Amino acid sequence: MKVLIINGSPAGDDSITLQTMLYIKEWFRRHDYEIINAAQSIKRYENDFSQVKRALKDADLLVFCYPVYTFLVPSQLHRFIELMKESGTDLSDKYATQVSTSKHFYDMTAHEFIRQNCMDLKLKYITGLSADMEDLLSGRGRREALSFFHHVLWSINEGLYDMPVRIRRRRKYRQLEGIEDAEKYRDHEKSGDKRVAIVTDLTDDNPALKDMIDLFRRRFPYDTKVINLRDVKIRGGCLGCFNCAAEGKCIYRDDFERLLRRVIQVADATVYAFSIKDHSMGSLFKMYDDRQFCNGHRTVTMGKPVGYIVDGFLSDEPNLLTVMEARAQVGGNQLAFIAGNEVNTEDNINRLAMELEYDLRHHYSQPADFYGVGGRKIFRDLIFEMQGLMREDHRFYKKNGFYDDFPQNHRGRIIGMYFVGAMLKNQTIKDKMGGSLSKGMLAPYKRAIKQQDKQKPGRKTDR
Ligand SMILES: Cc1cc2nc3c(=O)[nH]c(=O)nc-3n(C[C@H](O)[C@H](O)[C@H](O)COP(=O)(O)O)c2cc1C
Repeated sequence: MKVLIINGSPAGDDSITLQTMLYIKEWFRRHDYEIINAAQSIKRYENDFSQVKRALKDADLLVFCYPVYTFLVPSQLHRFIELMKESGTDLSDKYATQVSTSKHFYDMTAHEFIRQNCMDLKLKYITGLSADMEDLLSGRGRREALSFFHHVLWSINEGLYDMPVRIRRRRKYRQLEGIEDAEKYRDHEKSGDKRVAIVTDLTDDNPALKDMIDLFRRRFPYDTKVINLRDVKIRGGCLGCFNCAAEGKCIYRDDFERLLRRVIQVADATVYAFSIKDHSMGSLFKMYDDRQFCNGHRTVTMGKPVGYIVDGFLSDEPNLLTVMEARAQVGGNQLAFIAGNEVNTEDNINRLAMELEYDLRHHYSQPADFYGVGGRKIFRDLIFEMQGLMREDHRFYKKNGFYDDFPQNHRGRIIGMYFVGAMLKNQTIKDKMGGSLSKGMLAPYKRAIKQQDKQKPGRKTDR
């Protein structure tokens, strides 16, 4: 069997992820393997895709091999997938799977992104391997890698794979007409009190997105500044070189840093506006996302609300919705609203304008759920362990109390639980206590309720 390894790491041959495939290759030697450095050679493939086309045609199995980058895959691999689609190569008789390395921070959204695109390309998709970046260094990790590939081969042998189920609908663009007169969509007078940035990759041939942005700007009561990423000199996607971790500066000399520091970081809120492309925000927007790695794992806009204006079939994209919600939560941003244009576009834009205005006025921030709480814990452990390298991150985490929830910092509670555990083991004490244990546990809550009338309603809770 011919296996084509699509190396989506900007590190090319030095990719950690690629080592997993090289290890697998050593064990399953009777197959032919070819590797293409999809990310590192992306500029070349943009000019000439013929070599890749040939390799794709020859292959029986494609393995997308990449590091997880900012909830998804590196922007260069996004671009490569765009090129694969544009090339129109028939891949319907081929199998595909994926191998990633990461710290498991939103690896599942990256995997779903690749799976969805395999479906679009009519590839026969087989579940991939999401490894920790250190897995190959342990016996368990190596065994898992081999078992994974054994399962892939077995699946191919048995003809088992995920089948594309959805027929894509064609959307007809409907201009937003006659809304000028409607009372609820009336233009708002503008105030310069707040600075709100709208970041977009709008093109001239996208009236749907343009109309949505325009309507939002009219409806929203604060001044807005539109930043079109197409007009910003961004020379390329993150290279994963980690230069920024040591030096604190990106090796690219372009306009990105200025955009991040002087516009995004100082804005009171940010609205992202894009059209859905290949189940994500497209490769240019992804480049903008990945390049923020130059700020490490510090949340540059913590406490500031964000909103989304999204053109396309949002209801078909639960994975993208997860990415948007999780990004906001991990970044400590209040997600005001995601306004789509599948149905009730005007209402959605109106709602975004109202919600964002509310969040800005009241400094409202909804507490994080699993997306934010779980995601931050992974970062917290990582930065603590790598504090020698990621000094700025470490300083930021310490200053903002990100380490306060380490269990070892809660000694009183740990000792208390030993005490409770010992008591519960003793039947006599248990009988004597009756229901007083649960009452005891409730006591602090009761105290909090009693204190309630002494507190004024907080600004963050008056919704
Ligand atoms: C720009 C950038 C974004 C990243 N985003 C994530 C992420 O969202 N989740 C995660 O677990 N790891 C993330 N990582 C860590 C990489 O996935 C990890 O270092 C990977 O093993 C690198 O593999 P490679 O050497 O094949 O490129 C990111 C690294 C970089 C440079």
